[in-house]
Amino acid sequence: MAEQIMSLYQHFEEDFKIGAAINQRTMYSSEEVIKKHFNSLTAENEMKFESVHPNENEYTFEISDKMVAFAEKHQKAMRGHTLVWHNQTSDWIFEQNGGLVDAKILLKRMKDHIDTVVGRYKSKIYSWDVVNEVIADEEDKFYRDSKWYQVLGESFIEKAFEYAHSADPDATLLYNDYNESNPAKRDKIYQLVKQLKEKGVPIHGVGMQAHWNIYDPSLDNIRKAIEKYASLGIEIQITEMDVSMFTFNDKRTDLTEPTEEMEALQMERYLQFFEVFKEYKENIGAVTFWGVADDYTWLNDFPVKGRKNWPFLLDENQQPKEAMKKIIAT
Ligand code: GLA
Repeated sequence: MAEQIMSLYQHFEEDFKIGAAINQRTMYSSEEVIKKHFNSLTAENEMKFESVHPNENEYTFEISDKMVAFAEKHQKAMRGHTLVWHNQTSDWIFEQNGGLVDAKILLKRMKDHIDTVVGRYKSKIYSWDVVNEVIADEEDKFYRDSKWYQVLGESFIEKAFEYAHSADPDATLLYNDYNESNPAKRDKIYQLVKQLKEKGVPIHGVGMQAHWNIYDPSLDNIRKAIEKYASLGIEIQITEMDVSMFTFNDKRTDLTEPTEEMEALQMERYLQFFEVFKEYKENIGAVTFWGVADDYTWLNDFPVKGRKNWPFLLDENQQPKEAMKKIIAT
């Protein structure tokens, strides 16, 4: 008989939600483990702009509707990802008469998009990643130079939150970003959210994507980031967690399975992460993995195409790793 293990989400039920990103394939191929271990779901790609709004007068909700229905059927909460981003956003929104769209029209298109998407899932989606990745990685730059920014300056950020809030006043609205624990970027994210709060913009939290690895970022930087964001009196969600076996610059492709050393380090890191999350449970609303189990991860194609990676708590056979058993046992 297969070994019985308690449910991950039930273990943390008093603390925060435990989420997974799903796609059209994994929602079925991982249905049993999703049911057992997670109580919050995020669509990996299927609610992104280009997926639901390929042309100005065309919305395509078939797949996202299916995912919301799947979450309802299994009584899982659902997050929304993502409304305003520089990637995976259809070109048409930035175009007008063969050139760059003007500010007034872009704002109207953004509003239509947010009204329609957030409105459709009103009260079915508890939290939205409203604005994704607008802070620059370069230390001497504040905002990313996206088309949103080129046309609208920083004003699009607060407008996005306002539109989302009026489309669903009950949803928790987040600013979401990666490298969120890097001190320089963390301070900029903090500044952005602080300014928005001071202006009375309806922003309720920060999404820390948490695309981490077994070496970086340091536990100290993670803790400091959580503390700094929490000091704004907002909610924190861990939104896209994975713990890669490779540092970002490590491009090795010789492994068909993780080394013992990698596995040991990953376990140690996961135990530390969850200890910190527990410590800040008053501030953390959800911890979402960017996938379900090691049989599928976007990291298999990033940053090296076709290289295997093993970033989750469930292995390639969707069985709990030692780290998961230990987390549940503590
Ligand atoms: C970012 C986005 C996610 C996803 C990941 C990579 O973090 O927010 O939607 O695209 O990159 O998969």
